[in-house]
Order: sequence, then C-alpha cells, then structure tokens
Amino acid sequence: MQINYDDYLSDRSRNIPGSFIREILNLTQQDDFISLAGGLPNPQFFPVDEFQAAMQNVLCQNGKRLMQYGVTQGLPELREWVANRYRNLYGANIVPEQIIITNGSQQGLFLSGNVFINAGDPLMIEKPSYLGAIQAFSSFFPKFCPVDLEADGISLADFERVAKHSGARLFYGIPNFQNPSGISYSLEKRDKLAGLLRKYEVVMIEDDPYGEIRFSGEPVPPVYSHLPKQVIWSGSFSKMISPGIRMGWLCVPNPLLKYFTRSKEAMDLHSNNLLQAAILQFLTDNDIDEHLVTIRKAYFQQKETMRAAIETYFPPEIKITNPDGGMFLWAELPEGIDMQTLVEKAIQEKVMFVPGQSFFTEPNTKNYMRLNFSNASPENITEGIRRLSVAIERVVQVVAG
Ligand SMILES: Cc1ncc(COP(=O)(O)O)c(C=O)c1O
Repeated sequence: MQINYDDYLSDRSRNIPGSFIREILNLTQQDDFISLAGGLPNPQFFPVDEFQAAMQNVLCQNGKRLMQYGVTQGLPELREWVANRYRNLYGANIVPEQIIITNGSQQGLFLSGNVFINAGDPLMIEKPSYLGAIQAFSSFFPKFCPVDLEADGISLADFERVAKHSGARLFYGIPNFQNPSGISYSLEKRDKLAGLLRKYEVVMIEDDPYGEIRFSGEPVPPVYSHLPKQVIWSGSFSKMISPGIRMGWLCVPNPLLKYFTRSKEAMDLHSNNLLQAAILQFLTDNDIDEHLVTIRKAYFQQKETMRAAIETYFPPEIKITNPDGGMFLWAELPEGIDMQTLVEKAIQEKVMFVPGQSFFTEPNTKNYMRLNFSNASPENITEGIRRLSVAIERVVQVVAG
C-alpha cells in the first residue's frame, strides 16, 4: 500500500511557502540560459586556494580538537573577531559573549522565530521582504504585518501606524541594500526608527548580510548602534567569503542569550567547528578588506552595466532602483502586464528574473521584478537584459492586442 503523506505532514511544514527560484533552478541551469534570478555571489571571488591553505593549517595544528564536538555559541576566537570588527567599523557596543555563530544568517532568522514567535503573533516586516525570511518565520505562524518601504528606508509613518494598530512586538528589517529592493535606510531614518522601537517597545531583528558589500556612499552604522538593548543584529560570511561555507552570526542582547543558545543547541548543537577555525585562519592570514575592495569594485561595474543595458533596451516607463551596494536591482513595471505571461515569454527567450510577488506576504497590485547583477558576466548581463526586453515587448503586444 502506498502511504499518502499528505495526512502525515505537520501544519508547520505545510505553511512554508515554496521558492520560485528553487522551482526554476533546473531550467536556469541549462547552458544557454541567462539567469538574473538567483541571489548568488560571484564565484570568481571565492578564495579557494587561500581557504584550502587555511583548512590544511587548522587540520594539521588542531585537527583532533576541531573534529570533536564544540561549544554551542561558537569558537571563542571567531566570536571575538566578529565583535572586534564591528566595534572598529561602527563603534558598535559589542562584546564577544553576545555573538552566537550560526549556519549562515538564515539560521539566525529561524532561531529568532523560534525564540519570539507564537502562532498568531503580529510580526512587522518590510513590504517587500526577503523570501527566505518569510519562509523561516512562516514555520511559526506569525500574522505578517507589512510596513511600506520608501526610497530612503522604512516609512516611519507607516511603521507607527502598523505598530499602534497591530500591537506587534517584533519587526524584521534589512537596512542595508535590502533584498529584493536594494533600498538602504538613511542615518536619519535609523535614528528615528530606533526612537519608534523604543516608544512602542518593539524588538528589531536587523538582518545585515550585505553591509560589507557597499560600493558607493559612506558606511552607515546599524540600527543596533542606536539601540543595542532592543536589536538582534545578524551578519554573515556568505557575501564576504562564500555562501557554501554556511557561516554567519547573531549579536544578541544579554537577557536573550540563554534563549538563543538553547534554541541553537536544540537545533544542531553547534556550527561546524572545523570550518569556524578555517574561517578564522583565513581571516588571520589574509587581508579581508583588500578582498572586499575587489568584490565591491566588480559588483559596482556589474550594477552599472545592468543599469546601462536597461537604459538602452527597456521601455522608459520602467522604474529602476540604483543601490549603493548589495546584489540586486528592483524594477517597477507598468500595471496591466501579466507577470505569469512575462515569466513564460522570458523562458522562451532563455532568460529569468524573479517576479516581485514572491517577496510580498499578501497580494500586491503593482508589478515588480528583481534582477541580480552579482552572478553574471558583463556580457551576459547586457544580453540577459536585451532578451528580457524582448519578452517585455511581447507581453506589451499581448496587452495592446
Ligand atoms: C536578506 C537576506 N538575509 C539572509 C540571507 C541568508 O544568507 P546566509 O547565506 O547568510 O544564510 C540572505 C541570502 O541571500 C538574504 O538576502
């Protein structure tokens, strides 16, 4: 007899939305396909040789210790590296004891959901927001309460309205080069947002995987710096070094440390010891700032190439963001375009983007597309945008006809 697994599934697993990007992965991996859909860093900059040397070094020196179980919060020296870096970069008030090493910032999001969210709890979230966060939080059945985003960050008026109306005690935001929009919060907005968090006693999960990928403008301290006792700040080595190593961190206010540590322990005991040591060794033996300069220069060029191609090929009514960092452009298309048809036409042209709806927790009326510029060569970026313009033209013809 064949078991019908539908009857076995937990409500939790059923509630996690699928990912458009994973669904189309097979298609976009064909040789002649150009994908502007994924959120992948450029593998050209993965420091393979340096990492191999670091790995060999730590295995030779400390193999037996590192292949043993380790501490839940992570390798003390790596936690110290993280605290020192962000104290030095932003003057942030961070001590190593507050840092918990996680399997990428994605795990930090899941842990945050585990610590804070009961079914039905209101959760304020940017509109649009990162799909992976929507997936992670959905496991805990929050009531998503979207807050408008403006060109310089979260809408303070809408934040206040939603906070009052929903009674939410948790807000998830991405103040640097947001995924999907590329938008960053201005310094003034961060300061005022901290005031509102204080006023409404809302705790913020500040997701910051892209902060180090700033290619223009001045670095702006995180919201954490304004309100360290009320912000859980998360970071990642994914975009600085490599996402495959799955390593990130959470910076947690003291009273919450016990709960985050226990959640992490329950989930996987601790992150990979050997890799934590290799990352630390890599950071000790190499100049990470020099490495970041290389990545930033290349991504800036790739963004410029994409914007230039859009200017050449797209109809002028399509609005596009111009971020100072990160990996994405966000385009607003004219209303009336059917996005499903556009996806089909794009597949015919062998190019892909992510339709905006994936990033909203409720149906939205405007049409958006997210375009990734970090993981394609300049030639493919230009050709991809040209192909996309053909697909758009076809859909517009359908609408007109
Ligand atoms: C906003 C945001 N948060 C978190 C993540 C997850 O990153 P990590 O590789 O650190 O788990 C991503 C990945 O793209 C992201 O865009």
